Amino acid sequence: MKAGKGITAIIGMGYVGLPLLLDFCEAGLKVIGFDIDESKITRLQNGESYISYIPAEIILNYYNNGLFDATGDFSRLGEVDNIIITVPTPLNEYREPDLQYIRDTAETITKYLKKDQLVVLESTTFPGTSRDIVLPILEKSGLKAGEDFFIAYSPERVDPNNKDYRACEIPKVIGGYSAECLERVQALYGAVFSRLVPVSSLEAAEASKLLENIFRGVNIALVNELKVLFDRMGIDIWEVIDASSTKPFGFMPFYPGPGLGGHCIPIDPFYLTWKAREYDFSTRFIELAGEINSQMPYYVLQKTMEALNSREKSIKGSEILILGAAYKKDIDDIRESPAVKIITMLQEKGAVVSYHDPYVPLIESMRSYPDLKMKSVELTEEILHNMDCVIIVTDHSCIDYRWVLAHSQLVIDTRNALQGLDESKVTKA
Ligand SMILES: NC(=O)c1ccc[n+]([C@@H]2O[C@H](COP(=O)([O-])OP(=O)(O)OC[C@H]3O[C@@H](n4cnc5c(N)ncnc54)[C@H](O)[C@@H]3O)[C@@H](O)[C@H]2O)c1
Repeated sequence: MKAGKGITAIIGMGYVGLPLLLDFCEAGLKVIGFDIDESKITRLQNGESYISYIPAEIILNYYNNGLFDATGDFSRLGEVDNIIITVPTPLNEYREPDLQYIRDTAETITKYLKKDQLVVLESTTFPGTSRDIVLPILEKSGLKAGEDFFIAYSPERVDPNNKDYRACEIPKVIGGYSAECLERVQALYGAVFSRLVPVSSLEAAEASKLLENIFRGVNIALVNELKVLFDRMGIDIWEVIDASSTKPFGFMPFYPGPGLGGHCIPIDPFYLTWKAREYDFSTRFIELAGEINSQMPYYVLQKTMEALNSREKSIKGSEILILGAAYKKDIDDIRESPAVKIITMLQEKGAVVSYHDPYVPLIESMRSYPDLKMKSVELTEEILHNMDCVIIVTDHSCIDYRWVLAHSQLVIDTRNALQGLDESKVTKA
């Protein structure tokens, strides 16, 4: 263990917390992972992985070497010097920020908070959360922020399964409640991340993450809108993007798709929309982008109906295979995935729907679709042949799309996975 950094607790062993814990281990820092989900704790203690792209050997190796421990016993927060919070920040049923996970975690920390501890919030949220929500809860302990304990915010920038950027090589934005808070988080994160980007306040750090995600959401909406227009004009949007991308400056490619998914882009921008109301401000770009992106599954449905219609078939009674259920390629995460929306819309229209996703063996117990329960079917020539239509929703790299096309009657391609192949059986959507 490196001297001077002490032991770090990471609360929330999910898609953000677990990779962060492994980064700390790699840097030689001692860390304890906390979660209320006992099954995750047990699996970590057994050296197992529950995220497809994190190999179990890494977890087992660090665990056996004593670099990390995992526990659901929060009284052990008393053993640590630093506490990092990586719990979920979803929207509630009214599409408003649901900060209950952050509040609950802050309440738990308050019970065990001790002098000189550093608390860093990493969950994505609106500016003001660290100062106006987390800090007052922590001060209920009787300790004073900036004097007795330290508080900072640092947004998580991980891109799941992106092999080009290791998390510790992605510059890390940090903001502190006071100069000393910033120094404390600088000292800790400097041991793990190759570049730190200190900003002047907690709020600037919180806002920087939202800007990044809003930037993506708005630009994806732009190409999604142009996809629909160009389709009407008989122009291929993917060809256009490839051509525009050759400009060496002032252009950055974004790609259209069947709709947004994941825990970030479909959700985070609306944290700011909600906060903006307090300032009598309406975030029109965010709303418009949300409107366009959320229409994309309906566009896929429309294109599927038209393609079937041109073959004298109706959606009702058609056998349709969804290829790829995860919200993006080569991962196992189906949160907010447009595949699920498309599946339920097709079912409502009377289609007989099945899906194949090598990363997602089951779809069940989703917050917005509690009754949906499906099992991934095997991908065989016979199944493809028997389908009236195959819809490529997620273009996992391990699938041979040439082979899929060869054995299918009709393919709706929302990802340009069939680029360059015989287009007679393909509808782009
Ligand atoms: N997934 C991403 O790619 C990504 C990227 C950047 C930022 N973020 C942000 O990071 C945060 C976490 O996201 P995630 O994808 O890791 O979520 P996740 O659902 O994968 O993991 C969160 C974990 O927190 C645990 N948890 C919930 N309440 C708890 C509590 N009171 N005490 C202890 N543990 C608790 C859950 O059991 C779960 O294991 C969110 O704010 C998200 O917006 C996510």
